[in-house]
Amino acid sequence: MIDTKGTLYQDLTKILVTRDQIAEKVRDLGRVLTERYQGKSPVMVCILKGAATFFTDLVREIDLPLTMEFMAVSSYGSATKTSGVVRVLKDLDNDVLGRDVIIVEDIVDSGVTLNYLKGMLQHRGAASICIVTLLDKPERRRVKDLKVDYSCFNIPDEFVVGYGLDYDQAYRNLPDIGVLSPKVYEKR
Ligand code: IMP
Ligand code: MG
Repeated sequence: MIDTKGTLYQDLTKILVTRDQIAEKVRDLGRVLTERYQGKSPVMVCILKGAATFFTDLVREIDLPLTMEFMAVSSYGSATKTSGVVRVLKDLDNDVLGRDVIIVEDIVDSGVTLNYLKGMLQHRGAASICIVTLLDKPERRRVKDLKVDYSCFNIPDEFVVGYGLDYDQAYRNLPDIGVLSPKVYEKR
């Protein structure tokens, strides 16, 4: 794996969560979900693209006959201001009627995206819905009553990249999570 002396790391001001910290949390979460869904066969829904890295690590820590689905969504509006309307770019391949759904997201910010998705899957008749996120920025929440069931790390209101998270589609392949240097924004 890329080490922290690599070129991509030159664009970070600091590393916020290391690969070792992530791995430990992912293992713990895998154990918790294995317990919670004993005797069940949940469908795990990966929200592309940001959650892909977290998702593939997490499913390998869960000892259950689970199934995997992938969904891509985008919020209307500018990068800094979500309108509250979410567009489905790629829908699930199989329906969730009567299924126990675990939504896996990279980061909860305003909460608009997850709130919309949860409503949609409830409407489609999921038996239960659980929200799992790698990162949470609680300060930024606009949907106050959104229940995030499991969050691996709470982080301050800073723009982060790595382990799936991007800036303009880049940096997703960093093994650690870090704060992007302002010089990167200024360049563009
Ligand atoms: P929200 O909770 O609906 O506001 O949207 C969350 C989405 O915004 C995430 O799935 C990310 O795609 C994106 N996002 C929010 N904060 C960050 C960040 O710090 N780095 C990268 N993407 C972010
Ligand atoms: Mg995302």
